[in-house]
Amino acid sequence: MLTLRGSDPRRGDSLSNLGIVKDGALLVRDGVIEDIGTRAEMDALPEARSAQKLDVGGRVVLPGFVDSHTHLIHAASRAEEYELKIEGASYEEIARKGGGILNSVKKLRAATSAALKKRAHSALKLFAAYGTTTLEAKSGYGLDVASELKILGLHKELNLEQPLEIVSTFLGAHVVPAEFRGKTGGTERYIKLLTESLMPRIGEIRLAEFCDVFCDRGAFTREESKRILQAGRQWGMLPRLHAEQLTRTGAAQLGVQLKAASCDHLEKVNRADIAALAKSHTVATLLPGCDFHLGLKEYAPARALIEAGAIVSLATDYNPGTSPTLSMPMILSLACTQLRMKPAEAIAAATINAAFALGREKRIGSLEVGKQADLAVFEVADYREIPYYFGVNHCWMTVKRGRVIHGIEQAPI
Ligand code: NIG
Ligand code: FE
Repeated sequence: MLTLRGSDPRRGDSLSNLGIVKDGALLVRDGVIEDIGTRAEMDALPEARSAQKLDVGGRVVLPGFVDSHTHLIHAASRAEEYELKIEGASYEEIARKGGGILNSVKKLRAATSAALKKRAHSALKLFAAYGTTTLEAKSGYGLDVASELKILGLHKELNLEQPLEIVSTFLGAHVVPAEFRGKTGGTERYIKLLTESLMPRIGEIRLAEFCDVFCDRGAFTREESKRILQAGRQWGMLPRLHAEQLTRTGAAQLGVQLKAASCDHLEKVNRADIAALAKSHTVATLLPGCDFHLGLKEYAPARALIEAGAIVSLATDYNPGTSPTLSMPMILSLACTQLRMKPAEAIAAATINAAFALGREKRIGSLEVGKQADLAVFEVADYREIPYYFGVNHCWMTVKRGRVIHGIEQAPI
């Protein structure tokens, strides 16, 4: 049993500390871990006699994955662009020709709420089947008042309709939509729509916990991002950023300056950015699925970030344009082979450090007394086999708040 216990975010050498308990067991009551230790210790508890037992047969148990960066709600894949990319077109070239994010925006605006919800429900079942128990979800394929509110409303409804916890993020500043693009003052008018029309409505009924901006060439500048994130904070949304993905813009240091919850992507960071992140509480979230899908050779400098002492986390970035995967085990495999992270480091990055990225470190991300009983059980002999066997799913059971939500036994513990 990998407990990931400990109250601080994992930096440097501590990233590989999994807090392993051999032949471990947990006592769960009302979805919360009441006690944890070896099987012998748990068996000796008076409560153990009346407790319902779930034997996972000596398999590897870890905290459910926390996927801290997804674009859950979208209408369709962009398989047509996949072929263009393989033929050599870059992500930005495709976007300039009206493909990319704007392509997904067109599709989302044309989709009904019911269709979007159905697609999200199928995805969420798969997230659970791969061991994820909490995920962040961003809006950002609506980019008008009605469509953005529709997406954020779906996050809320989905939270009530299925067992995974969804953390809602407003990404109205994904790109400037077509109707504002290339027009004089178009970007300014769109920012005004975000900060004056959308944010008050989101803030009023708390539809989002975080505000995100895609700060990059072809999206928003550092100055624009700063204004948007500051406005978001006024409406109760904490900042996080898509930073230094395609070009270096200074977004990572802006994130540190604004005390952002996380800066995500970071392929293009320089030494000063790494040093600034290392000194901060802003989580450095790496998304190797993007570079893999886009066929890019240059991954984020994970080793330098870890060695400098940054809080490194991993997420899928599940989205139709750059990372169409919802498999955290696949992300762990990429983290090991491409980011040169050790399996233990990758697991800590995908659980406890990701919980910090979502401000939920007191409730999830490790197996400790008082935390939610969110577990992933893998059919492997050794935890290192989770990333080692890539492209197959060895998640044998997933438990959310003490209830089996994926696996052989669809019954409460
Ligand atoms: O995280 N970079 C910006 N946003 C997404 C891609 C969105 C898309 O292409 O649809 C990302 O990579
Ligand atoms: Fe993203």
